[in-house]
Order: sequence, then C-alpha cells, then structure tokens
Amino acid sequence: MIHIEKNVSLYPYNTFGIDVRARFFCKIATVPQLQELIASSLYKTEARLILGGGSNILFTKDFQGLVVHMELKGIQTLAETDERIRINVGAGESWHDFVMHCVNQNWGGIENLSLIPGTAGAAPIQNIGAYGVEIANVIETVEGVDASTGLVHVFEKDECRFGYRESAFKVELKEKIFISSVTLTLTKKNHLFDIHYGALRDMLQQQHGDELTVRKISDAVIQIRQSKLPDYRKIGNAGSFFKNPAISHQHLQQLQKNYPLVPSYPSDSQNVKVAAGWLIEQCGWKGKRVNNIGVHPFQALVLVNYGGGTGEEILRLAEQIQTSVKEKFQVNLTPEVNII
Ligand code: EPU
Repeated sequence: MIHIEKNVSLYPYNTFGIDVRARFFCKIATVPQLQELIASSLYKTEARLILGGGSNILFTKDFQGLVVHMELKGIQTLAETDERIRINVGAGESWHDFVMHCVNQNWGGIENLSLIPGTAGAAPIQNIGAYGVEIANVIETVEGVDASTGLVHVFEKDECRFGYRESAFKVELKEKIFISSVTLTLTKKNHLFDIHYGALRDMLQQQHGDELTVRKISDAVIQIRQSKLPDYRKIGNAGSFFKNPAISHQHLQQLQKNYPLVPSYPSDSQNVKVAAGWLIEQCGWKGKRVNNIGVHPFQALVLVNYGGGTGEEILRLAEQIQTSVKEKFQVNLTPEVNII
C-alpha cells in the first residue's frame, strides 16, 4: 500500500539543506508500489518530481506537485566467474554504502567513486564521475519503470547515451522513467586501476610503493574528498555546482596569453575542458560569504549553505558567478545541479 503525505518539508531530503515543502510526497520501496502510484488518480493530475538522495538538486521554491522518493533497496549478485561479478543494486541504496560493500569484497571498478553522496539510482542520471572514472565505465544496464504506463523497461548501456555528467535520463527520458535499479560488472581480480588523476596519484605516491589495492585507492579518494569537499551533513551543498566548461582550442590559446596557468584537459577533438573552479577562484569568489550562503573556501566550484540560506539566494549567487566568469574569460558556465 502506498501512502501519499501532504505538505511535507523537503529539508531532510536535499543535501543543500533548503527548507521548502512538497504539496504531496510519496515514498516508494518496491516496483509494485510504484505501479500502484502510477495508476492512482492523484498521480495523473499532479506535476511530479522523482527524488533520490537529493544531492544534485537546488530547490528555489515549494514544489506544487507530487515528490516521489525512491527507496527501493537490495544488492544482488546476478552472475560471477573467477574474474568478474555482475551485480544489481536497488535505486534507493546509498551509493557510497554500495561502493563500500564492493570495496570490502575487493571488487574493483568503482573505488574512485567513493564518498559521492546520493543514491545508486540517481548515479547514472548525471553519470557520476570522479578521479578519472565514470559510472558509465562499469554499467551494463539500467532498469526503470515507464512513468506513464508502469511497464518495466531495461535500458542497454548504448540507450543510456552517457556523456560528461550527461545521459538520456537527463534529456529525452527526463521524468519519463523511474530508475528502479542499476546492473554493473566489477572485477574480482586483475583489476584495471585508474590512478592517472594528479591528486590521486600524488596521494598514493605519498603512501610509498606497495601494491595497489581496491581499498587503498578508495581510502585515498576518501582522504582527498574529505580535505577539499564539505560534508553536507555539516555544511549544505550539492558538490560541484557547475560543469567544467568545454571551449575551443582557439579560445584556450587566447586565454593562455593572459592566464598561462589555466588548468585544461582534453574533451573531444574540437574542445578542451577548463577547470570551472579555477575560473571562479580567479574572479575572486572563493571563500566569499553572503549572509548564510557562499562559495566554499577550499573548492570554488562548490556553493554552500551555512544554514538557513534559501535556494533563491544560492541561485542569485550562481548567476553573479556566471556573469563574472563570462566577463573575465568569455566562458559560459552551465549548472550541473538541477534547479527546481
Ligand atoms: N581549482 C582551482 N580552484 C578551485 C578549485 C579547483 O584552482 O577552487 C583547480 C585545481 O587546482 C585543479 C583543477 O581546478 O587544477 C581541478 O580541480 P579538482 O581536481 O578539485 O576537480 P574539479 O574539476 O573542480 C571535478 C568534478 C568533481 C570531482 C573532481 C575529481 C566536475 C563538475 N566536478 O571537479 O565532481 O570530484 O573533478 O575528479 O566535473 C561533482 O560532480 O559534484 C564533483 C564533486
């Protein structure tokens, strides 16, 4: 049986810690519950929002519709050999707890994605990535429920159209599919570690040379993240607020004339990505505080709510940052966070 609550505070359900309300709110723990909700009359008339861990969202106002909180649990082994394992994880499982479960078994492939907040079901939507690895690298299929028919659909990896912080679930399938679980393949031995990301390599080198393990990499990633990124349980935030922008090689060369140190990474044949955190810092925003909100002192790409800040204030700050980066560098910053 589903239970639809009214006028619910979303404060506990978003990592920015914004206190807005949902007109209707429903927790979903199983696929049949989801199908029951889809068949209900209220569902058909209300605007809806699918919410996982709320770690990539900025609420700027009350939500005048139905918020569906995805709480489907379960971790299941589907197949395994000596070398590999195929696992299915429920959309409502905490992503980091799942990573820790895999690290504890010495299963490799997602150790670089340790300590990312949010749920397993939300992870493919923005193709979470960190320290050179994206979830797309290990995904086999994504299982979902059609938001209008209630039918279960399995999306093959190709259909997910993964890109940098992008997927079909953010574009043509947005709000059309409830992701119910994710199936991925991890390695049990002969792991293919990726430690090319500068900060990670440096951290592992400091620990002096023994053999790399899944746990060592996970521990190093956790240490780096804890040193740079605020813990949302103490200071509200949604990780990187903007994407790292892609610009043309020509544009980069122009920037390098005045700013030889601008950090850049290959993107595709036409473009390079530049570090948005660096651009924002150069504009003088790093560590700036405006009343209860601000720009994090250690990572300029992270906007923070020190407590009591509103989504509108954060959005206004984000717009000011976009304007100054545009004026100084002629670069457009696009939010990575969903603004509601
Ligand atoms: N930088 C600055 N000033 C800052 C922040 C960064 O100069 O305030 C420079 C750094 O010195 C470095 C470069 O920018 O040269 C890159 O910084 P960092 O390694 O911190 O990574 P990022 O590009 O800012 C991205 C992801 C993070 C992910 C890290 C590590 C995006 C939008 N963000 O940040 O993801 O953890 O790389 O892989 O791609 C997230 O998506 O929420 C997130 C935290």
